[in-house]
Amino acid sequence: MTDPYFQRLFAQRIGGARYGKGTEIYKFEKIKRAKRKALAEHPERQLIDFGIGENDEMAPESVRRVMAREISRPENRGYADNGIAEYREAVARFMAREFGVALDPDKEINHCIGTKTALAMLPAAFIDPGDVTLMTVPGYPVAGTHTRYYGGEVYPLPLLPANGFFPDLDSIPAEVRRRAKLLVINYPNSPTGQVATREFYRRVIDFALKHQVVVVQDAAHLMLSYGDPPLSFLQVPGAREVGVEVHSMSKGWHMIGWRLGWVCGQERIVRALADVKDNSDSGQFIAIQKAAAAALDDAEIPKQVRAKYHRRLVKLVEVLNRCGFQARMPGGTYFLYVPAPKGVRGGPAFASAEEASQYLIAEHSISTVPWDDAGAFLRLSVTYEAPDETAEDALMRQTEERLKKIRLAF
Ligand SMILES: Cc1ncc(COP(=O)(O)O)c(C=O)c1O
Repeated sequence: MTDPYFQRLFAQRIGGARYGKGTEIYKFEKIKRAKRKALAEHPERQLIDFGIGENDEMAPESVRRVMAREISRPENRGYADNGIAEYREAVARFMAREFGVALDPDKEINHCIGTKTALAMLPAAFIDPGDVTLMTVPGYPVAGTHTRYYGGEVYPLPLLPANGFFPDLDSIPAEVRRRAKLLVINYPNSPTGQVATREFYRRVIDFALKHQVVVVQDAAHLMLSYGDPPLSFLQVPGAREVGVEVHSMSKGWHMIGWRLGWVCGQERIVRALADVKDNSDSGQFIAIQKAAAAALDDAEIPKQVRAKYHRRLVKLVEVLNRCGFQARMPGGTYFLYVPAPKGVRGGPAFASAEEASQYLIAEHSISTVPWDDAGAFLRLSVTYEAPDETAEDALMRQTEERLKKIRLAF
């Protein structure tokens, strides 16, 4: 097949003239394909799916009822632009109630169509060619992708067990620090499950002031914090002089497909995001913002979501540890991040987490997500579908039985 005339017109940032011709398959597509194959080849074997990174439940009925009402109101029909006051005010009440953080809803809060879009837009406000975004890895790559789109560079900060899954800010070379404009962190961290401490945030603020970088703290999983109450970056003195925190309605309220979040913190940075956003989208549907405002005013919702995933994590930690894994309760998120097995006793060896993950899905219909960016780890999510606790327990029994039979080596 000959190329269309525009093949040579594709921008370098998406591959230039080679766009669409590569054979590289991205990790999550590989996992989807492996799942389909396992289901087709072994219909008798139930797929045990720890590979999904999405809540398994609908938004609470109370929220859906508000949505049902608001969707039929004519005043909600139009462009929402940079968002409605009702949602911003609900966010301000939420931030005050949960974290004791007082924010001006008109200046220090702006909605976004999910945190993904805010992370995609923030580099537009800061990154020129040659600038650097400092980013923890493994992690959510969106801010890095857009940094590169603008001609910037990403400097990875590995999250390792040895440094408690915190970035080693002192290790950044002076030449990189000089060019750095953004520091993107994410706590509770996906996938490692680490939660931030005040002390860590204080170090981040000192670093930002000393080296003049803007901090973007991705709080997508914040309401899924276990043990200590959730900690917002903005609770720490100085945070709002150096950056913003990006929040999501997705995980903590089971509203993942509704596409709503917010950016809050330093007024000028919130404004810059709002300006880029205003040139990118026309705001989330007002009915959704109103339903989310109701969700934010109900303190019970995140508590229930948290209790559910905490319960499931406790069960999976026990099962995995009985099967040879080294699993610990995470500080937050609905993920377990465990060292990948090195092989099977008397069977194949795995050179990477990816190989271990492929083996588990292909041979045993157990889906996981591999991470090889900073050591070989598997991520197991407890967002599997199980209608009640009896079903959860049955799934855990099956998981244990199946994993024990494999005789994994670590
Ligand atoms: C760390 C992290 N940040 C951001 C997001 C995006 O969330 P949202 O649904 O708010 O766009 C995710 C989603 O998986 C995530 O894991």
